[in-house]
Amino acid sequence: MPRLLLLFAHPAYDHSRAHKQLLQHLPNDPRLTFRDLYERYPDFYIEVEEEKRLLSEHDIVVWQHPVYWYSCPPLLKQWIDLVLEFGWAYGPGGVALHGKRLLHAVSTGGGRHAYQPDGLHRHTLRQFLAPFERTAQLCGMEYLPPFVAFGTHRLTDQALFDLSLDYARLVRHLMDDEDGSFARQLAQCEYANDCLPALQSALPSAS
Ligand SMILES: Cc1cc2nc3c(=O)[nH]c(=O)nc-3n(C[C@H](O)[C@H](O)[C@H](O)COP(=O)(O)O)c2cc1C
Repeated sequence: MPRLLLLFAHPAYDHSRAHKQLLQHLPNDPRLTFRDLYERYPDFYIEVEEEKRLLSEHDIVVWQHPVYWYSCPPLLKQWIDLVLEFGWAYGPGGVALHGKRLLHAVSTGGGRHAYQPDGLHRHTLRQFLAPFERTAQLCGMEYLPPFVAFGTHRLTDQALFDLSLDYARLVRHLMDDEDGSFARQLAQCEYANDCLPALQSALPSAS
């Protein structure tokens, strides 16, 4: 059964509304390893060998964070820079991550309408996340359509609650997806959120 490593990066978790809620319903499952990077590395000194060992022990990696300046918070970038080593994650002999899946789970202040070519941000969020997608692919990982909480400032408590249930379902289905059929269906969508309603009927219900 696939094992999932959730790498969480929020520089201001005490003030978080969206991510606090998104973490609420994650499955309590021994196959899920939750790792709060800011809690673990407040000084930014990342234990590279331990991070590599954890990656090796899991099949699915999640990068969960708020979008800051169209990108990730700095500690996750530091993690990417240090942990995804040449000759290990990419380059000659760099096959340690081949075949693993990468799910990006992010939140934005901007609404989805603002992330359009004719919207405020002039590009889609997928376009802004392209460096992450390409990084995962360069490391031989499958970059899944991201799960996004758009427009967090205007989301009602109920909408955020519903999103957290969707996120929990997504995580569970990925961990139950032994033959990759769920990931293949997911790959049809721009964002994982778009696929979930269509997939619900075909899937066992999540707890
Ligand atoms: C330093 C900073 C930069 C931000 N940059 C963006 C951005 O580029 N695009 C955007 O849509 N929202 C941006 N936001 C809004 C956050 O993404 C939003 O507040 C967050 O996703 C909400 O999650 P939380 O309640 O868990 O903190 C930014 C917020 C901060 C503090």
